[in-house]
Amino acid sequence: MKSLVILSGAGMSAESGIKTFRDTGGLWEEYPVEQVATPEGYAKDPALVTRFYNERREQLNTVKPNRGHEILGELEKEFKVTVITQNVDNLHERGGSTHVIHLHGELTKVTSSRDPYNPAYIKELRPDEYDVKIGDLAADGTQLRPFIVWFGEPVPKIEEAIKAVEKADIFVIIGTSMNVYPAAGLLNYVPRNAQIYLIDPHPVAINTTRHINVIAKGASEGMAELAKLIQP
Ligand code: APR
Repeated sequence: MKSLVILSGAGMSAESGIKTFRDTGGLWEEYPVEQVATPEGYAKDPALVTRFYNERREQLNTVKPNRGHEILGELEKEFKVTVITQNVDNLHERGGSTHVIHLHGELTKVTSSRDPYNPAYIKELRPDEYDVKIGDLAADGTQLRPFIVWFGEPVPKIEEAIKAVEKADIFVIIGTSMNVYPAAGLLNYVPRNAQIYLIDPHPVAINTTRHINVIAKGASEGMAELAKLIQP
């Protein structure tokens, strides 16, 4: 089986009703990124940040994977698929993808405020635990914080992502403006003989000399077209 590696961003979930970042003027669901997506913002107002992610979790219960997520899930019959996503939602998993690397963390997980990247403290929430309260504690006795990679924090999953990209026969960039590193740098690890596709309804500025097959469509239509083009 050929190896198909996907790098997805916020546009992947747009047709499910989750807003992208840079199409909405640098705000994340009405909040400045500095307030809700940095360690400094969390230190300043943990209650606000906790509430913000509770709302994002609540939204997971109201959205569904779109056809793009589902087609990607179905492609596992024909390809060894690795999904590398910058998204913190769980729509790839719910769309049938079984190997998903979340570079920027996961809404459904929480961790220690003091030692957030220690695997001993990372915990998956059951849906009835989605509403985290101030006073809910991690195993080390500190306040539970969202397991989200905030700006300025390390991206520990990048190593695993690089290894997958290095084995790609087909590499697909979908729904990301390629503005954020190290995710955007993964393109540099695509093997010379691999094919590269980009699915996005808008032009994306990519700094590369590699040939890129552009599918200028949204995630659902674009994935359908990709599936036809790469049929083994
Ligand atoms: N289908 C596919 N792509 C779409 C769609 C759609 N229906 N609608 C919009 N897009 C594209 C946009 O054209 C844009 O190129 O999705 C991309 C979204 O880009 P961003 O909003 O910048 O999101 P992303 O690249 O995922 O951001 C990366 O930045 O804020 C941080 O950590 C956050 O993970 C996020 C990271």
